[in-house]
Amino acid sequence: MSTGMHGPVVVVGAGHAGGTVAALLRQYGWVGAITLVGAERRAPYQRPPLSKGLMLGKVAPDELQLKPDAFYAERQIALRLGREVLRIDRESRQVHLDGGEFLPYEHLVIATGARLRPLPVPGAGLAGVVSLRTADDAMRLREAVRPGTRVVVVGGGYIGLEAAASARSLGAEVCVLEREDRLMARVASRELAAFVAGYARGQGVAIELGASVVGFDGEAERVRAARLADGRVLPCDLALVGIGVLAEQSLAEQAGLACEDGIVVDEEARTGDPAVSAIGDCTRRPIALFERRARLESVHNAMEQAKQVAARLCGKPQPPAEAPWTWSDQFDLRLQIAGLTTPGDQVVVRGDPEGRAFAIFHLSPEGVLRAVEAVNSPMDFAFARMAIGKRMRTPGERLRDVAIPLKEVAIA
Ligand code: APR
Repeated sequence: MSTGMHGPVVVVGAGHAGGTVAALLRQYGWVGAITLVGAERRAPYQRPPLSKGLMLGKVAPDELQLKPDAFYAERQIALRLGREVLRIDRESRQVHLDGGEFLPYEHLVIATGARLRPLPVPGAGLAGVVSLRTADDAMRLREAVRPGTRVVVVGGGYIGLEAAASARSLGAEVCVLEREDRLMARVASRELAAFVAGYARGQGVAIELGASVVGFDGEAERVRAARLADGRVLPCDLALVGIGVLAEQSLAEQAGLACEDGIVVDEEARTGDPAVSAIGDCTRRPIALFERRARLESVHNAMEQAKQVAARLCGKPQPPAEAPWTWSDQFDLRLQIAGLTTPGDQVVVRGDPEGRAFAIFHLSPEGVLRAVEAVNSPMDFAFARMAIGKRMRTPGERLRDVAIPLKEVAIA
């Protein structure tokens, strides 16, 4: 798409994806107006530290900004923060903001992210039943969690487990309630999940699997207990609900763009409308290396698609396809995960789970490295991530042998 790069670009959503695409468009030479509209009052910031550093009080919200305020002014990127887009009008190419304003666009980037999956049970509206998605949420949690606070965490995914670790580190009594028969069902293998469960329990976090919350009991409008389907009642002062997110696709849907649990985009983040791209958590995208489509929730995904759009609009080459990856910090564990697993993959453990430094590799039946889950093994992770991107093959028995350096294990 060659536009001369002089028209206005509007980016809806000022998260990691939206903030990155705005910055990259300028960096790649876009001359026209760039406007970034975000519902939160903060300039784009990193979300991963919310459940860790911010909750622990190690960093302040301002330190998480992707770019300092001056960056946007200097590069003439207009921020419309605390503002909501009500409607996209594709025919006249403009977006309608709250307050009656219209913004015309030559190109529109939808980066609306995801919203919390609600837990529709009685008592979910009580004070003390909270969630963690924004910096403000994390600040409130930091205030509420004290030594001895009884915290029930509903959901054993990244958010639940990271927040549980942080709360425990702050001296709280923590119990994680996971509906499935294992942790991190969406994002990790059974092997990794079992290790993490053991580790967290060793740190004093109670973990209940197969636990369904059917309601919260309150007293004076404040949560006092979580009620489970099996009849148990767990007293608590605070209940953090982290049961996943849903693609925020309502604007795209209303505008008639194809959505299937995520706004459908191609490998360069195009929607069906040449004047509209979509990036980040809100998209369902092709994963080139894995010949499948998926909705990814990660910083890497946000940045990769931001690059795809900025490069395409500015006539630059597309970034190379990379294996999806993400990470999670829990206590002193750094989990790093790359690639995608497929049922039937061979699972090979390299290193020593007892020593808390090891990696779980997933190989296709043909021996192609498909995914890695590394625990405190950043070097193995870095190599494996690259090897997955190159579709390298490797014999499982050599991989298991830590005496053989990883770079000598893989064969092209
Ligand atoms: N009760 C208990 N557990 C539930 C329930 C329920 N009613 N419903 C879902 N769960 C569990 C799921 O089985 C899963 O293990 O909650 C967990 C949610 O995990 P994720 O889908 O990984 O979502 P979450 O941890 O909330 O993270 C949301 O934040 O850190 C980012 O990458 C992360 O984008 C993701 C987002």
